[in-house]
Order: sequence, then structure tokens, then C-alpha cells
Amino acid sequence: MGDPMSERRDTMPDAIAAAAARAETNGIRSLFEADPNRFETMSRALGDMILDVSKTAIDAEALKALFDLARERQVEAKRDAMFAGARINETENRSVLHVALRAKADDGFASDGEPVGEAVESVIAAMSQFAEALRSGKAKGATGKPITDVVNIGIGGSDLGPAMATLALRPYHDGPRLHYVSNVDGAHLADTLAGLAPETTLVIVASKTFTTIETMTNAASARDWLVATLGEEAVGQHFAAVSTALDKVAKFGIAKDRVFGFWDWVGGRYSIWSAIGLPLMIAIGPERFRAFLAGAREMDVHFRSAPLEENLPVILGLVGWWHRVAMDCPSRAIIPYDQRLARFPAYLQQLDMESNGKRVGLDGQPVPISGPVVWGEPGTNGQHAFFQLIHQGTDVIPVEFLVGAKAHEDEAMAVHQDLLLANCLAQGEALMKGRSLEAARRQLIDAGKSEAEAEAIAPHRVFAGDRPSITILYPTLDPATLGRLIALYEHRVFVEAQLFGINAFDQWGVELGKELAGNLVPVVTGQTDSSGLDASTRGLVAAIQTMRRT
Ligand code: F6P
Repeated sequence: MGDPMSERRDTMPDAIAAAAARAETNGIRSLFEADPNRFETMSRALGDMILDVSKTAIDAEALKALFDLARERQVEAKRDAMFAGARINETENRSVLHVALRAKADDGFASDGEPVGEAVESVIAAMSQFAEALRSGKAKGATGKPITDVVNIGIGGSDLGPAMATLALRPYHDGPRLHYVSNVDGAHLADTLAGLAPETTLVIVASKTFTTIETMTNAASARDWLVATLGEEAVGQHFAAVSTALDKVAKFGIAKDRVFGFWDWVGGRYSIWSAIGLPLMIAIGPERFRAFLAGAREMDVHFRSAPLEENLPVILGLVGWWHRVAMDCPSRAIIPYDQRLARFPAYLQQLDMESNGKRVGLDGQPVPISGPVVWGEPGTNGQHAFFQLIHQGTDVIPVEFLVGAKAHEDEAMAVHQDLLLANCLAQGEALMKGRSLEAARRQLIDAGKSEAEAEAIAPHRVFAGDRPSITILYPTLDPATLGRLIALYEHRVFVEAQLFGINAFDQWGVELGKELAGNLVPVVTGQTDSSGLDASTRGLVAAIQTMRRT
């Protein structure tokens, strides 16, 4: 068997393989020594949002080779095909037009030549009307009380986007309280409903397909909960639905004027901009929701028109590809120094890993490498948990810091933001600069340790340094900024997929587990026996059944 790393290098253009070899020798620090203006050279902005990729081992030649790669792999042509509404999701034979959901009426988006602008606008208008009716108290529950709490039932793309964004935009909430239930584990629904009163609660059932077992099960149980107190006739006033499968929604019994549709050219993980964003709109109001859409559109226009060399999503994609392929990094950490982005890493896990975790290319042939593992938690918390491994572990993990210069909190809490920013900057600096053995030894001696003690302890206090990080800096996390940020990552995933040669828009990998779960339900409940299953699953089924009997 050959060396997988050298096989991967074989798939890279010579200029990038040479750059990767150079990067391994030269690291990052030397690039700052060679170019005192490296921040200016290696950072780009869209308005007041800055993307700084200077703390990577990409030198000027490498950067040029990466742009050449983007051209060679047809990133621009594929991007133009997406915006033109072509069926670039080839394995599902669909166009990919989430960008149309945040467009202006005269942007002229069409799927297969069929204009979509009017339909998009009419759903936003209907959502706005419903959201305003709830927010103003005009739309009441069955007993005449206003709705104080909204529970969104959905999973994956029908949950992660609105749940993430609702938390991110907490300072802009002036509508009913929002709750999100996704897991089929009854604990999730039970714990959520425990604090709520049926007469003041609205349930939104959000599912693109309206077949997802978790969502359908939770929806049925929520319906039972509501009907137990308010009766069948209350369902109409306490349920709404979001789906592309309007026929299936009708069967569930939800009133027509409370059903909000979207289209098969919107992928689940790209659907926050569609009616799936309804709970967010209810929380922050239609006007701010439109500002959120406008922020995303600003990034779309930039992605579509800026030269590759100035293009934030292209650069973020190229740097991501560089770390994954040229530097062989198995994962990337997303660390928002912004507590309200706590769910952003989870959101990006679906966006990135469901899109780019693929084994074959568009031609059906195996690809040597696809997307990395994406993970993360907010800083500063991560510093007191897993940062040890990022600084001194044996794997290099590129970190993506996201941070706002200004907090929403008032002056009395200014010190919090100062500390947050200082910590974020310090982590990037520490990862890059590291600490040498000699510096560690000297520090110990200065602190009064003996030569022998310093000799023994110093290796443990060495930081290799030259560890990469990217920083995305914005003034403050407002609706438009969140829109720009999400769109930036969406297009980054698109760029990386094109570099990997894969289809980012299908997700066949989730099917097998669903199928097997369906088969295992009667086994778990004892309706069918477990013979024919593998020995491990059989053993676990037997143990489960024993535990459930006692
Ligand atoms: O199982 C994966 C998936 O299909 C995701 O792609 C999707 O976002 C999620 O399930 C939920 O699907 P739906 O909105 O159809 O319920």
C-alpha cells in the first residue's frame, strides 16, 4: 500500500505540492518576519467584516497557486451555474437556489428558466403576516389568550439554522419565547413542554419532507399534549407547519393559512432563509428578518462578482482546502468568541459535513480526500477544556476564530468584551508564536527553579508554534452580520466541494442508518426476533430487553 499522504500530494498541482513542502519547513512565523505587512497582504474585507488568513503557512506563491487551482477546477463556472439555476445537484437532479431566497425581486432568479422571485416573496409576505399577528397578540390561542411561547419541532436543517440564529440574535427578540425540539428522545419534548401551558403555546412542525420520523413522532406527541387539555378543535389555532410536501401537511390537519411552503431547490441545510426561518422571524420580527436576508445577499453579490483574489468565500474555501489536503489536517475547529454563536459550530457541522463528507466524485469514482471533521465550542470556554490539545497535541488543528469588536451589553460590562477580545487574540498569537525550549527553561529559572528542575520541566512547557488560525472579525453580531456570516460559510463549502470534485448538495450517507433503524424498531419492541442480526447488535438487543423488563 502506498503512502496516503503522498498519494494526495500526487493529486495536487506541482506548485501547491512545492508550497506544502515549503510550509512544512518554513512555518508561519518566518512569513511574518519576511513581510511586516502580512496582515494587509493576507486579509480581505467585505464592508466592515474582515477575514484574516495571515496566520497560516500560505506564502505569496502558495496563494497564487491556490487561485490558479480555483480557476483550473472551474469554481467560477460552477458558481455561475448555481446562480443561473442549473441543476448542479446532479444526483438529485435539482437546481440549488437558496440564494434566491434572499434576493431582491429584480435579481431575476429562475429554476430551469422558471422565475422564482414572486413565489419567494409571497411566502415571506405570508410569514410576515402570521408573525406579526402572533407578535401583536392578534392571533390568539383557543381560549382567547395570546401566544407567549412557540415550539419549533424539526431536526437537522429544519432545526439547527433557526435554533442557532435565534440564540445569535437574542438582543433583538421582542416576540414570543422560542423553544426548539429536535431529538426523538422523549426527554427533549417532555422537558420543553414541562414549562409551557397549551393554551398559550403554538407548535410549528418544520420538515422539508414531512416524513422525518423524529419530527413526525414529536409532532404527534405534542398534538396529544395539546388535545389532552384543549380538545381536538384547538389544533387549528395552536399548530403551524413549514414544508415542501404540502399534501402531507394537509393530512396532518393543519389549517391551510398556517402552512408555509418552500421548494425542492432549497437544501435542508440551506433552508434557514426560507419558511424554515419562521420561528426566527416570530422572535425578531419581519423587518429584522429581512435585514438578515439582506446581509446574506450582500455576501452573495460579493461571491458572484468579486475577483477571486478579493473574494472572501473563495479565500476561506481555498485556505480550508489547503489545510485539509496540502497540510493533511483531519479537522477544523470553529471557535466563536461570541457566546451567542454557541450553536454556530453545530450548525456548521451539518452545513459542512453533510455537504462535503463524500466518498465519490461527480463521476461516481472514489475521491482521495473530502471534507474535514468540523467541531467547536465558544471561547473562552474552550480554552479551559480542549485547547490543550490544539496547542500541544500531535495533530495540527486549524482554528477559525469568530469575534465581534463590540458587545450588545452596556458600558457597565465593558470589561467583559475587553477580556473576550484579548483572549481571542492571545490564542491566535500563542498558536502561531509558540514557546521554545530555551524560553521555557529561562522562564523556570527566572521563577526560581534549579537548573535540574528547569531541565526536567521545560519540555512540558514548550509550544511548537506555527499552528494556523483564521480570524473573522465583525463590529457586532446583528441580523445583517449573521446573514453575511452564514452565507460566507455556505459559499466556502461550495468552493471546497468544487476543489474536491464532489456534489455538496446531496446527502445519501444519512439513508442507511434510517433504513436500519426502521428495521430495528420491531426487534427492540420484541415483535420480531433478533436472529439474523450481527452478534453485537443481537447481544445489545438482548441486554436492552432484559433491562426494560426489570
Ligand atoms: O437526515 C438528514 C436530513 O435529511 C437533513 O438533510 C435534513 O436537514 C434533515 O434530515 C431533516 O429533514 P426534513 O426537513 O425533511 O425533516
